[in-house]
Amino acid sequence: MEDDGFTLVRRRGRARRTPAPRSKHDSKPTEANRDPILSKTNIQRLLYNDVDDDSPSPEETARRIKAIQANLDNLAEQHDTKIYLDRATKVVQDALKEFSPIKDIVCYGIGSLAHNRDSKLQFLFLRSLVSSLQIPGHVYIYDPVFKPVEIAVCDAYHIEWINDNEECKRLVHDTTLFYMPHCEKFMYHNLFQANWKQCRGLSKVVYIGNDTERYLDVLSRKESAEFPLFSKASHVYHKVPLPLFHKHDRAFHGSYLHIPVNHSHDEIAGEIETTETPGLMLSSAQA
Ligand SMILES: C[S@@+](CC[C@H](N)C(=O)[O-])C[C@H]1O[C@@H](n2cnc3c(N)ncnc32)[C@H](O)[C@@H]1O
Repeated sequence: MEDDGFTLVRRRGRARRTPAPRSKHDSKPTEANRDPILSKTNIQRLLYNDVDDDSPSPEETARRIKAIQANLDNLAEQHDTKIYLDRATKVVQDALKEFSPIKDIVCYGIGSLAHNRDSKLQFLFLRSLVSSLQIPGHVYIYDPVFKPVEIAVCDAYHIEWINDNEECKRLVHDTTLFYMPHCEKFMYHNLFQANWKQCRGLSKVVYIGNDTERYLDVLSRKESAEFPLFSKASHVYHKVPLPLFHKHDRAFHGSYLHIPVNHSHDEIAGEIETTETPGLMLSSAQA
């Protein structure tokens, strides 16, 4: 199997009739290995060539959903991926043990599940977190690049699509894990700004994503004025780095779990007015 989860289709021939002995790390045959619709060529066609056709037939839609799922399953079956996901999930699980339980997970900015291998790995990590954290609430996802088939794939994993572009300004009332791998600066800042005051200095906002403190050294004066909360947030969070994934080093590079520490919230909260960009209230369906 190739690195990005595709299964190589071998040319048939006598010399290949006897299967090569399996190494102990070979994964079990997946649906993609068995189903001729899900050969490498078909998955590639379904994921890449036709993805811009916005009104596929129901049969074609079903095939594309299956192709994305098979591609994700293949990637998840790879030995290195399994090892990494177990390790990284344990890091997060252990770090959150002493913290108040997470009620919901909100994922912003994961990128294309059909096109981007890092996004696929990040999505597998999301799935792993969901199954290990056993949250009582919901798991939501939004990225403006998602096609309907990607939304359907999420639906199959009980990950709920957010219908509107919240611009990452969701105001939370219960402890929520925001999963925002490699997002843009404005996305983290919008999240901070939306929750700063009501959430007593981000006390209910746990997030996985870039270390925004890192931006402080590189922001121009103009940008520092645009993103004032990066400096303040640096006093709020305890940071736990995600382990490196050597094989696919970009997928989680520089990503941290950020847990709000409990001191000095009262000092920090209220220092900044949030009236300009209030957080979005959840609708009753999403609350
Ligand atoms: C730098 S890319 C990161 C993609 C992927 N996570 C990765 O590591 O390659 C930022 C992502 O944020 C998404 N994005 C932009 N605005 C957004 C918004 N308002 N809400 C959620 N996602 C958004 C973009 O579509 C893009 O997929």
